[in-house]
Amino acid sequence: MPEIEEVAVLGAGVIGSSWAALFLSAGVRVHVYDPAPGSEQHLKDYIETAWPTLEALDMTEQGNPDALYVHTRANLAVENAQFVQECVPERLELKFALFKDIEAHLAQDAVVASSSSGLMLSEMQRGWQNPSRLLLGHPFNPPHLIPLVELLTNSETSEGVLEIAEQFYRRVGKITIRINREVPAHVANRLQAALWREAISLVENGVASVEDIDKAVWAGPGLRWAAMGPHMLFHLGAGPGGISEFCRRYSDSFKRWWDDLGEVELTEDLAKTLFDGVTEEGKGETTQELSRRRDAMIVGYLQSRRLCDLVD
Ligand SMILES: NC(=O)c1ccc[n+]([C@@H]2O[C@H](COP(=O)([O-])OP(=O)(O)OC[C@H]3O[C@@H](n4cnc5c(N)ncnc54)[C@H](O)[C@@H]3O)[C@@H](O)[C@H]2O)c1
Repeated sequence: MPEIEEVAVLGAGVIGSSWAALFLSAGVRVHVYDPAPGSEQHLKDYIETAWPTLEALDMTEQGNPDALYVHTRANLAVENAQFVQECVPERLELKFALFKDIEAHLAQDAVVASSSSGLMLSEMQRGWQNPSRLLLGHPFNPPHLIPLVELLTNSETSEGVLEIAEQFYRRVGKITIRINREVPAHVANRLQAALWREAISLVENGVASVEDIDKAVWAGPGLRWAAMGPHMLFHLGAGPGGISEFCRRYSDSFKRWWDDLGEVELTEDLAKTLFDGVTEEGKGETTQELSRRRDAMIVGYLQSRRLCDLVD
């Protein structure tokens, strides 16, 4: 497999800027295109802010923040790229216009990964003459900090594209999963959506406050989930019989709980209740201060995982 040295990032908003910082930290040359006025400065500021975090995670040994090339056209950004990370807004017509612009200018073996959270791979493939080099490479925000990338290909995808993407993402420090069949929201966002639906329902039904429901996640199962996934944790939850014993022992309980889970509709009133709840929970900290605190905790956690030699 070719070593990837030239990468293009198309769209330098929330996600593209973070991908660019991560790719630079791994020592590849990064070509960026974003038509918005001021986007170059925003990108450079973002990289400057993200770099100390990447250093704290020991991810900049090979890195070079100056290997950044900002282009005035998408086709110029992609022409030498072996790997393209698409990060334009979540509107199919915008993605299609971009794909049309770049398709004829891509190197023959270039792989194009879309960051899309909400669009289906099969929808995006309709924007290509030949979609065989396109796959889904869905990150979690911010991609330079959260390790997960969800990968999806299908029968239209060329053989080897998934493996090239997997190898590249792992090289830049990501943890990848394969999605075998497309479903709305992929995998991790569906899991988040399921939990959030029940959290909102508990608020709506007055079972506990917004703050206490958040606490019930981060001080309880959330802490365990950061260590292992739910199946492995339940495998450890019923003695030597493992998950088989767990299923036998608790299937009736879970059936009763699942039957009682709520359905919600995010009305304006409910959104206001959630807003008031997090404002109370934030105890006067600004969203920037809260974000900094969140990121510092995530960095600390990732450092400790690395110390345990559990992250590649
Ligand atoms: N924000 C998130 O939490 C998140 C998480 C995972 C994936 N994503 C996905 O990442 C993609 C980008 O989302 P975002 O949150 O960064 O959006 P954003 O609005 O912050 O950034 C999009 C950027 O694309 C630029 N742009 C618009 N048209 C363009 C074009 N033709 N060529 C190049 N750039 C163009 C815009 O100027 C903007 O800077 C979406 O598909 C989204 O679903 C977002």
